[in-house]
Amino acid sequence: MSELMFPQDFLIGAATSSYQIEGEIYNTDWYIWEKLGHIVTGEPCGKACNSWELYEKDVQLVEEFGLNAYRMSIEWARVFPEENVIDFDALAHYKEYLATFKDKGIKTFVTLHHFTTPIWMYQKGSWENKEVIKEFLKYAYVVGRELGDNVDAWMTINEPGVVSVLGYFTGIFPPGKNSVLSTIRVTTNQLIAHAETYKLLKKLTPNVPVGIVKNITWFYSLNLFPLDKYLAWFINKLFNDNYLRGIRTGKLPFSQKRYPGLKGSIDFWGLNYYTHVWISQKLPNMAINHLPNAEKVTQTGWEWDSEGLLRAIQLLWDTLQRPIYITENGIATLKDEERVEYIKEHLAQVLEALKLGIPVKGYFYWSLIDNFEWLEGYIPKFGLAGFDHKTFERQPRKSGYFLGEILKTKKLF
Ligand code: BGC
Repeated sequence: MSELMFPQDFLIGAATSSYQIEGEIYNTDWYIWEKLGHIVTGEPCGKACNSWELYEKDVQLVEEFGLNAYRMSIEWARVFPEENVIDFDALAHYKEYLATFKDKGIKTFVTLHHFTTPIWMYQKGSWENKEVIKEFLKYAYVVGRELGDNVDAWMTINEPGVVSVLGYFTGIFPPGKNSVLSTIRVTTNQLIAHAETYKLLKKLTPNVPVGIVKNITWFYSLNLFPLDKYLAWFINKLFNDNYLRGIRTGKLPFSQKRYPGLKGSIDFWGLNYYTHVWISQKLPNMAINHLPNAEKVTQTGWEWDSEGLLRAIQLLWDTLQRPIYITENGIATLKDEERVEYIKEHLAQVLEALKLGIPVKGYFYWSLIDNFEWLEGYIPKFGLAGFDHKTFERQPRKSGYFLGEILKTKKLF
């Protein structure tokens, strides 16, 4: 294993998102999606980990593992349950939640949009309607003003490419469309909303860095057929390149037009990295996650390839030289020893990146706790902890303590 060490100020934490852990958020597009029967088990999100009530237990977990950072998200539909209606009790709850971390010296990384959109915005066309920009800014303003004092870093949108491509191109996420034009419209609105939110938050909370969370998935053509090669290129364009190019050049997708303030509109990159995907127009949903002979395959069928993480770090750094935080990286597995291996392998790649002089500033494991894994419901176990689905008692795993040990010693062992 590498002799290299993590810098003294390196952050090691765990990540979650509001919808996946809080429970009982019934006014979002995802709730509608669940009711339409899109979750493999047919089981809805329901109470999730009941973290809305039991958030202190999650804070305790982070503390017990010895981590120094936590990534979470705010639920837009809780803050604005209806158009132009603010729920100040929900804001007070988040304030308390964030303050609990602050009191313990744990840094908080807060995402404004993690996949879910309030029903009232969904009914108006969600991310496809350009009104979303104005509405998102209202939300960002209220959250920035009310919660900013307790936040260490903002992230505007989590994995915008998943929202646009899975929601509007392959149609497996809400609203279930299959339209290239819609996908481009969504990307355009996301990029504008991001740029405007960046500007707004820099004014409201000048000392808090603002980033975006881009997940890099590598897309490979399953074979040498020109059509499949083109499809892989095109999906990469929709999923990755439109966003990277947008932030690098300030230009909106498939256009030479610059949007003012978009170019360079991040203080840091949030990088989510899991896997690669094989593309062919002959496959259902055009993609598979692993080849039949793949060796390291997770519970979700994703092939795990830690070297892809280093390449993803390099891609973001080459796109725009800004500090990088790994905002998600994790494995769904029933074997916790495998999780430990996974973490070790991926952190070794982070050390490689540091050796190359790329400023990777932190690593957040996905996830602190098993949670509602979107289409796959509660089957995949990503957590550093499990939980009892009846009592909601947290069940810490060794991998959580292992991560804390790395932070303490600053090295891999
Ligand atoms: C998402 C998480 C999700 C994780 C594992 C990421 O794409 O940001 O919400 O749970 O992958 O599936």
